[in-house]
Amino acid sequence: MPTLAAPAAMTAQPLTLDGITHSYGGGLAVDNVTLEVKGGELVALLGPSGCGKTTLLRIVAGFIQQGNGKVTIDGRPIDTLPPNRREIGIVFQNYALFPHMTVAENIAYGLAARGESREVQAQRVEEMLATVQMARFADRKPKQLSGGQQQRVALARALAMRPRILLLDEPFAALDKNLRLDMQIEIKRLQRQFALTAIMVTHDQDEAMAIADRIAVMSQGRIEQLGTPVQVYDEPATLFVNNFIGSSNLLNGQVEAAFEDGYRVALANGAVWSVVSKARFEPGQPVVVSVRPEQMLLADEPAPDRIPVTLKLSLPIGGELIHDVVSASAESIKVAIARRPGISSADMALGGTGTAYCGLADHARPALFSASNP
Ligand SMILES: Nc1ncnc2c1ncn2[C@@H]1O[C@H](COP(=O)(O)OP(=O)(O)O)[C@@H](O)[C@H]1O
Ligand SMILES: [Mg+2]
Repeated sequence: MPTLAAPAAMTAQPLTLDGITHSYGGGLAVDNVTLEVKGGELVALLGPSGCGKTTLLRIVAGFIQQGNGKVTIDGRPIDTLPPNRREIGIVFQNYALFPHMTVAENIAYGLAARGESREVQAQRVEEMLATVQMARFADRKPKQLSGGQQQRVALARALAMRPRILLLDEPFAALDKNLRLDMQIEIKRLQRQFALTAIMVTHDQDEAMAIADRIAVMSQGRIEQLGTPVQVYDEPATLFVNNFIGSSNLLNGQVEAAFEDGYRVALANGAVWSVVSKARFEPGQPVVVSVRPEQMLLADEPAPDRIPVTLKLSLPIGGELIHDVVSASAESIKVAIARRPGISSADMALGGTGTAYCGLADHARPALFSASNP
C-alpha cells in the first residue's frame, strides 16, 4: 500500500455541540442541543422524521449557520469556518456522486480542489479504492454501479480527504436490507481503522443499536436520552424513548406501595407486579408499566403475578414465536419466546389448552412511567 503522510487518524478528536438552537422561521427545528462526541466515538442521532437530525448534522458541517450555540472540534470553535475548511467528511443517503465523473475522478475531486499534487491524488485514490474494495471499478461511472457500490465510493471520497470528523446522514436508507448489514459492518470497520469521530443520522433503531457506541434519541429538536445502545433499550428515560426503541407492551396500573428500590404495582388486568425503578412515584399514582415482549412468558398455571389471557395469534418469525394474547380487560399483549424447531403455535407449546397465563420472565426488567406525563 502506498505510504503517504500517516493517516491523520490515530489522534481522534472530540466534537462538541454546545447549546445548539436553530429555527427556519417557524418553530424550533433544533432546540438547545448539547452533545459531546468523544474522540473516535460513533454517536447515532436517532429519531422520527422531522425531529431535527439532518439540521443538526448540516450545522456541524457548516451548510447551515445555527441561530445559537457553538460547535468545537478538539476544543476549537469552528462556527466561522466555511464547510471546506472544517475537515469534515460527509456521506449522504443519495450518494451525491458526480454523474459525469468516473469513480476515481469522484474520489480525487476534493483532493484536486484542495490543490494536492497529481501524484498524491493518484496514490490516495488507489489506497481508498483498496480500502473500500472497489479497485476494479475505478473507471466506471456512478450509474454503472449498484447502490451499495456507489455508497462505498461516496465513503472513499469522504475518507480520501483525511477528515477529522465523519458525518453520515441516513447512509444506508436506500440499500436493501441484506446489503445494509454489510455496509454497517464496513462503516464501523473504517471508522475504527481511521479512528474517526463520527455522527450518524438514522431513523432505524436496529441500525443505531448495531453501529453506534452511543445513541442520542431525539424528539422535536431535543435529545431525550443519550446512552449506550443497551442503556437506551434496557433503561429508557422517557416513554417516548421506550416506545421508539424496540417494541413493548404498555400496561396501565396504579402504584400500591413503594419499596427501597421500586414499587408494587396493581395492574388494571388484576396482576400485581414488583417493579424496580429509580423514578419517584406516590402510592395511588396511575402509572404505565412497559415490558418488552421477550421479557414475558406464557404459562399454563395461574399465579398472582400472571395475567389470564386468551390466545389470538401465534407467528413463527424465524427463531422467535410471537404470541398475540388479550387480557380480560381487553389489553393486547405480545409475548416473544425463543422458538424450538417444529413448534409453530403456543397451543403446541402449552399442550393445546387454548387459555394461558401471561407473566414476567425471570430476567424481566419492566420500566415504569407516569401515566399522566407521557
Ligand atoms: N430548509 C428548510 N426550511 C424550512 N424548514 C425546514 C427546512 N429543513 C428542515 N425544516 C424543518 O425543520 C424540522 C427538522 O427537519 P430535519 O432536520 O430535516 O429533520 P430530520 O432529519 O430529523 O428528518 C422539520 O420540521 C422540517 O420540516
Ligand atoms: Mg433527515
